Amino acid sequence: MPPLPQLAVLASGFGSNLQVILDGVAQGEIPGEVKLVLSDQGKAHALERARKASVEAVVLSPQRFSSREEYDQNLVNVLRDHQIDWVVLAGFMRILSPVFLAEFSGKVVNIHPALLPKYPGTHAIERAFEAGDQEVGVTVHFVDEGVDTGPIIMQEGFEVEPNETLDQLTERVHTLEHRIYPKAINKVLKGEVSMTGEPR
Ligand code: GRF
Repeated sequence: MPPLPQLAVLASGFGSNLQVILDGVAQGEIPGEVKLVLSDQGKAHALERARKASVEAVVLSPQRFSSREEYDQNLVNVLRDHQIDWVVLAGFMRILSPVFLAEFSGKVVNIHPALLPKYPGTHAIERAFEAGDQEVGVTVHFVDEGVDTGPIIMQEGFEVEPNETLDQLTERVHTLEHRIYPKAINKVLKGEVSMTGEPR
């Protein structure tokens, strides 16, 4: 058996998507290992989830670095030291620079709570709600140098209910995220989809 792909999950906050990834690995739905969880926020609940799952948790705080490039070079160094194959973004609230992407080109995936290309960036669910969209959803995509612009791996939407509140809608979007992220990661790790469209 070839060695399992080694994943790093990058998360800035609550870490509910990290949790479904940890669970997916434990249950064999994701054919890889989470070697490392890294956060830019020392207080991120995601770090707690990592420790509970006996996964190494690392904080790389932006205050220690004078530029985005310097931060990203250190991020690359940490990931290289841990022999990471794939980088999974799960609510990581930093934009990755070309310094980082040059090292992990085609090996970085992200989840976004909207039907991209609609509503890239922050507050995507609120913006769809305020615009009165009839359909909302979730996108998993490869990361390129833009904000939420890379090639789509998986996308799913659903109809907004009449009189649905923003809180209800937000909860349903997160539930959908938790269902599709492990599936999309499974496809990527099995080589069923790649950033260039070429078989891996
Ligand atoms: C998710 O909605 C994800 O789509 C977005 O950030 C949020 C992270 O939530 N990129 P969590 O920390 O995984 O609970």
